[in-house]
Amino acid sequence: MSVSLVILAAGQGTRMNSDLPKVLHKVGAAPLLHHAMQAGRALSPEVTVVVTGHGAEAVAKSARAFDEEVQTVVQEEQKGTAHAVLQAAPLLEGVAGDALVLYGDTPFIRAETLEAMLAARKRHAVVVLGFHAADPGRYGRLIADGEALERIVEWKDATEAERAVTLCNSGVVCGEAATLMRLCAAVGNQNAAGEFYLTDIVALARAEGLSAGLVLCDEAETMGVNTRAQLAAAEAAFQARARAEALENGVTLTAPETVFFALDTVVGRDAVIGPNVIFGPGVTIESEAEVKGFCHLEGCHISRGATVGPFARLRPGAELAEDVHVGNFVEIKNAILDEGVKVGHLTYLGDAHVGEHTNIGAGTVTCNYDGVMKHRTVIGKRAFIGSDTMLVAPVTVGDDALTGSGSVITEDVPAEAVALGRAKQVNKAGLKPKLFEKLKAEKAKRAKGQE
Ligand code: UD1
Ligand code: CA
Repeated sequence: MSVSLVILAAGQGTRMNSDLPKVLHKVGAAPLLHHAMQAGRALSPEVTVVVTGHGAEAVAKSARAFDEEVQTVVQEEQKGTAHAVLQAAPLLEGVAGDALVLYGDTPFIRAETLEAMLAARKRHAVVVLGFHAADPGRYGRLIADGEALERIVEWKDATEAERAVTLCNSGVVCGEAATLMRLCAAVGNQNAAGEFYLTDIVALARAEGLSAGLVLCDEAETMGVNTRAQLAAAEAAFQARARAEALENGVTLTAPETVFFALDTVVGRDAVIGPNVIFGPGVTIESEAEVKGFCHLEGCHISRGATVGPFARLRPGAELAEDVHVGNFVEIKNAILDEGVKVGHLTYLGDAHVGEHTNIGAGTVTCNYDGVMKHRTVIGKRAFIGSDTMLVAPVTVGDDALTGSGSVITEDVPAEAVALGRAKQVNKAGLKPKLFEKLKAEKAKRAKGQE
């Protein structure tokens, strides 16, 4: 049975006190919206519709960055969750199978939970995801008898007895797409909030003689983000889960509580991650690679057996082949380092390609930016770049070539050549004692003048 997703993301998130639409606030270096989309993606959805409203353009753009094929629709006025779901109806017309409603501000629903809901759909026309709340607060309450759901009552409309119920609505709902839309269209707004409640579809389904069922999940999965404090709590929850997963997958984390993962971080088995390592988006690390302490990694790939850090910064487009060594205080951006390259210390490589087994000396800089444009540096195989070489791009250094320490390389270096781009040294015999005598005399004269 195929399934489509409707992800609600029109809300403003007033309590975030922010100009940024709520679903674009980040957890694990990724917008909240991407977390919801990732959970849904595990179901291989037929169609995914994101319902936007506040900051519609930015939200749609972010949704497309995660999934090019996503469809978006604008809910001009936020009239309630049923009204929001209905906006997706034209995009789901003629699409067979189920539709599942997710919230863009609820990042932790697990794919397994969504699969359990789809399985429950075999027994019920409408399936709602519920949870037992430690503090049920203002959640909608589920009036149920075992797995059979009778209705959902919103906190604002609930009686004292109903508010005493601790079984709560997560908001995630699933049903046959056509049925779901038909029920949403029948929902009215005669309630305490004057909104079109998605939750009303349960009672409407029951009135038609359809069955409504309940699937339960852990409360942690339904954690929503409404405030900055909840955003911080969500970050902590995400990191705790990501660390536990990495350990489970056979990654060594020397000090797990100091490592910060991104939603899309991939780390292979037997990789070792030291303390205080920060992952931005787009990092993949292969098996048996090692990242030592205090590294910042973003948009980069580290191959098997490579070692990085401590104190290294890999920026977008850094590609490290097998057995590459990147040492301390090295920054690499948009550069490919072929197998066995060594960059031990204090170096910037940007917009570059370095051939296999080349050694880059301490203090080397690719001068890639002329103030207006970026230029490439290409270094061949088995080359030796002397310490403190400035490679003024565009420039090419051939295979097996060498640059002398302190060289400013402005012209291409042929293969096997030695390039010396520095002033010639002169030695003045016996000059040092004479020079110091003169300087000391000068100092004494000045001191006397001040008396
Ligand atoms: C909703 C549920 C409640 C449940 C709670 C779980 C309803 C009526 N109530 O309440 O039973 O316990 O979620 O968190 O569904 N949205 C739109 N357009 C709208 C309204 C909302 O896109 O017109 C989006 C919001 O951006 C948000 C989600 O839908 O992502 C939920 O809306 P929200 O107003 O937070 O619902 P709650 O009052 O929390
Ligand atoms: Ca909410």
